[in-house]
Amino acid sequence: MDALTVRPGEANSAWIEQIDEPAIESGSVLVQTLAVGICGTDLEIIAGEYGWAPPNRDRLVLGHESIGRVLEAPADSGLSAGDFVAGIVRHPDPVPCANCAVGEWDMCRNGLYTERGIKEIDGFCRERYRSDPHFLVKAPASLGIEGVLIEPTSVIAKAWDHIERIGARSVWKPKVVLITGAGPIGLLAAMMGRQRELEVHVLDIVTDGPKPGLVADLGAQYHSTGIKELASKADIVIECTGIGQLVFDILSSTPAGAITCLAGISSGGRTISADFGTLNKSMVLENDVVFGSVNANRRHYEMAVNALAQADHAWLQRIANRRVPLQQWHDATTRGPNDVKTLIQLADL
Ligand code: BGC
Repeated sequence: MDALTVRPGEANSAWIEQIDEPAIESGSVLVQTLAVGICGTDLEIIAGEYGWAPPNRDRLVLGHESIGRVLEAPADSGLSAGDFVAGIVRHPDPVPCANCAVGEWDMCRNGLYTERGIKEIDGFCRERYRSDPHFLVKAPASLGIEGVLIEPTSVIAKAWDHIERIGARSVWKPKVVLITGAGPIGLLAAMMGRQRELEVHVLDIVTDGPKPGLVADLGAQYHSTGIKELASKADIVIECTGIGQLVFDILSSTPAGAITCLAGISSGGRTISADFGTLNKSMVLENDVVFGSVNANRRHYEMAVNALAQADHAWLQRIANRRVPLQQWHDATTRGPNDVKTLIQLADL
């Protein structure tokens, strides 16, 4: 079957190759991949800057955001042929650490976890794959191909879950959330903020293209300037850009008791000069919290399915707004001015 594979660590080594049918040992459920989404992590892997091949192999099947259709499933799996499923990306470390032992692999303590399409296990950008049912999440058929948004939404569902757990440290009635970055992750974070009936502000550098309209249609407010002023009024900030200066401006502007979640991965290599002593003083005196958040466990995937099922489907279609067939996968790696998220489509619904 066709698969998009890459040699991690080597730029421009991605191509379509013929691989074997998935081995039965890789799971009792056989799934036909319908589509995979492309995100910044995939682009980094394709550029040779991230990713790990499975042990004793030099190539990795790409793709971690997926929607597929069950072809075969054992009777006791809770799944049946025809069900739509999203594959869970991270698998627990083999030790396992205290968190992986209880299914909280997103909080793995020893770094020995594996991730499909990213770290040591083949991903989903192949015609068929197998999985243990425990690592599959059922998607409502009504979500259609937009079920591919389950994985990115799970990452942001975890961010919201942890924000709310931190908020529970005292009486907390948040009203205003600021999201920085209006890419798919920022937009999905804004969607979940509106589902919580919060006043949502989204800041992004662009002033045209689809982002301002997508934000407005959520009932949220779009901004392209004014970070310090916006942060000064935010009870919650979800930072999705990873831009160092923006992070510093947010942390030095938020009001007392604010919770800032860092969800954007920086490219690094840029130095900013900043007064961390003054920042520390204000964060201590104001009980401010800043924390990083990555990945998601099964609970977060289920939260994501619920959030997407409540969303306006036409709005989700405007997020997953470009599809390319597998043979033209290369087109999915370049972003056009109107692209929000690009999907590689492997089969018709
Ligand atoms: C994925 C996460 C993963 C992270 C780091 C992200 O793109 O969505 O599931 O944990 O990359 O590898």
